[in-house]
Amino acid sequence: MKRVTVNGIELAYRDEGAGDPIVFLHAFPLNQTMWDEQVERLCANYRVVTFDWRGFGESALGEGRTMLGQFADDLAGLLNELGIDRATVCGLSMGGYAAFPFYKKYSDRVSALILSDTRATADTEEGKKARYEMAELARQSGSSALVEVMIPRLLGVTTLQSNPRIAERVKKMIESNKAEGIAQALIRMAKRDDSTDLLTQINCPTLIIVGSEDKLTPPSEAEKMSEAISNAKLEVIQNAGHLPNIERPDDFNYAVTKFLSEL
Ligand code: MLT
Repeated sequence: MKRVTVNGIELAYRDEGAGDPIVFLHAFPLNQTMWDEQVERLCANYRVVTFDWRGFGESALGEGRTMLGQFADDLAGLLNELGIDRATVCGLSMGGYAAFPFYKKYSDRVSALILSDTRATADTEEGKKARYEMAELARQSGSSALVEVMIPRLLGVTTLQSNPRIAERVKKMIESNKAEGIAQALIRMAKRDDSTDLLTQINCPTLIIVGSEDKLTPPSEAEKMSEAISNAKLEVIQNAGHLPNIERPDDFNYAVTKFLSEL
């Protein structure tokens, strides 16, 4: 893993391959290794960048603003450090939540968008409360306390029934994170703005991906986003839950490479 200082803290990242850049934004409460299969497949034709959000994986925690705008500014800072002006931005779930403020502030830096298993709406009051409770749980009991709650939410029923190795991989990612990083990300997500109005302003090529068995951000959310964004394409990955890039990597990679090759 390489390291670079961005906005006063060290971020861990990978920068592989050459060609048009694509940057992947990881989900909560995981890390950049969730993109391993995408790095491997895409780096033959593209410049592929992944990184750990502040407080996750091998990136430092820092003392940034508890708003997702901090993540957006970190992404902009990382692209600056890597000399990347414009990139395809692919965000999954929390990665998608952060892609919205990034697009809002830095739309000229986005050549195309891929929004996977995410939603444009903000949390409900009940959802916010659950986030603050989970932040408290992480702080009190550590990141491993989230495993039992998160795995059935993150993985589709097909994966849960047939692929324990994926559940084990996700568990390790969750456990490797700092509890405080997890807590701060939960607060950032709870405080995030509603981005529904932004959808109609998105004018770059956009691909929406969703797992057919996603319980957290179901296909109905993906359909709403694809209707609101002009000319967005929608791909539903069958037999996958909230993490189709891990659960069905070949299908996910096919959808991404097909989209990129048509740009
Ligand atoms: C994620 O996958 O990033 C999160 O589970 C999303 C969420 O909790 O809303």
